[in-house]
Amino acid sequence: MATTSRGGFSNRLGFILAAAGSAVGLGNIWKFPFEVSDGGGAAFVVMYLLFCFILCFPVMVTEIAIGRHTSKNAVGAFHKLKTPRWSIIGKLGILSGTLILSFYNVVAGWTFGYAIEIIQGNFEIGGHFGDFVADWKYTGAFAVIFAVVTAVIVQKGVSSGIEKASKILMPTLLVLILSLMCYSLTREGALEGVKYYLIPDFTKIKLDTIYGALGQAFFSLSLGMGALITYGSYVGKNDNIITSATWITLMDVGIAFIAGLMMFSFIFSQGLGGQGGGAGLIFQVLPGAFESLGPILGRVIGGTFFILLSFAALTSTVSLLEVPTAYVIDEFGIKRNKAVVIVASIIFAVGIPSLLSNGATEFFSSFVTYFGADQATSFMTLVEDTASDTMLPLGGTLISIYGAYIWKKKNLYAELTEGNTNFRYTLMAKYIDFALRFLCPIVLGFIFVLTVLSKFF
Ligand code: PFF
Repeated sequence: MATTSRGGFSNRLGFILAAAGSAVGLGNIWKFPFEVSDGGGAAFVVMYLLFCFILCFPVMVTEIAIGRHTSKNAVGAFHKLKTPRWSIIGKLGILSGTLILSFYNVVAGWTFGYAIEIIQGNFEIGGHFGDFVADWKYTGAFAVIFAVVTAVIVQKGVSSGIEKASKILMPTLLVLILSLMCYSLTREGALEGVKYYLIPDFTKIKLDTIYGALGQAFFSLSLGMGALITYGSYVGKNDNIITSATWITLMDVGIAFIAGLMMFSFIFSQGLGGQGGGAGLIFQVLPGAFESLGPILGRVIGGTFFILLSFAALTSTVSLLEVPTAYVIDEFGIKRNKAVVIVASIIFAVGIPSLLSNGATEFFSSFVTYFGADQATSFMTLVEDTASDTMLPLGGTLISIYGAYIWKKKNLYAELTEGNTNFRYTLMAKYIDFALRFLCPIVLGFIFVLTVLSKFF
């Protein structure tokens, strides 16, 4: 497999696992359940699944293809293709990545903090989540640790850092979530949760449900910000991009789906069903679920769960940091070590208001009130919504337009045919062409406009 001086994945499995490591993270286990809860249950799940497979998949394939074709970062790729104006996609992506990583660090810090609390047997923490997150010095210390560990891994470069970690930790996390899901289904009241999660009531679909599900699909698949252009740039020419993208999507959606089933069984068995969610959902519900396993087992399983979740978050933060870092290295010729320090410090600073958004300060905790909303939204939620519900789908729209009309079918197909000789004769080829030309720009563009109008006007 081709390995450039920028580093490369050592084999195809390495790329799939690293990209799936980027995709699988807090988005699947922390964000997905509370978005489903806020979005009214199974109807949200159906929309999310449709968006992932129908709209996001073609965008993912295009991102990886652009990355591999150019061997460049999210901005440089567009320069190399002699379409410098379109590097706006990459620049927008760097901004989205910066915003996402800024609050992601904070939540990853909570996860890490919870691991330590649960290992010590503090199952009551579920009821004190509000106090926990308001203590910004304590949670901030975890966020700092997290940011530093991410920076160290990114400094080491692609194959030694990202790949090794993904290979061991992802499968372990999957086994643990599957086991917890089986356990959760045996709890009394779990069936109600399963029904809420799986039997859709389409009358519940509102505009919020649609853009929430779309934003969740993009966020969860790490799409729309050039992360997969950057990762794609490290993929070898013999790899089959369609197969890789299929695996990444299936793993990501599969893990979110299982995590959702586990969470809703626990939520309903604790009598907390149907009450909406919010960023605290898993942190409020899971400690009680672990406690029910008994004092020793609860500490072991609960501690392991939060540690693995922290690692899942880490493989995502690594990819988030890699996007702006690869840009700074390639475009400004700054050495990797220095680039990482600069970029990580800026992003951490951008995250400080998010750290103060959860009860630590009134100002950031009730930062804005969306049009027509009765409650104020925190700074952190504003950043999260803006990045995942607005900027990522916008990035996705632009990538599909770029793939179809600027780079064009001929070049995209040529790239996808490498490592997949018969590609152009497949049904998938026809679908991707159709989706990029019509479906994605129209549907994504339409939802984007509605989202912006509904939130701010
Ligand atoms: N996909 C990650 C998650 O679900 O937690 C978050 C993420 C990582 C989004 C990388 C975007 C990205 F480029």
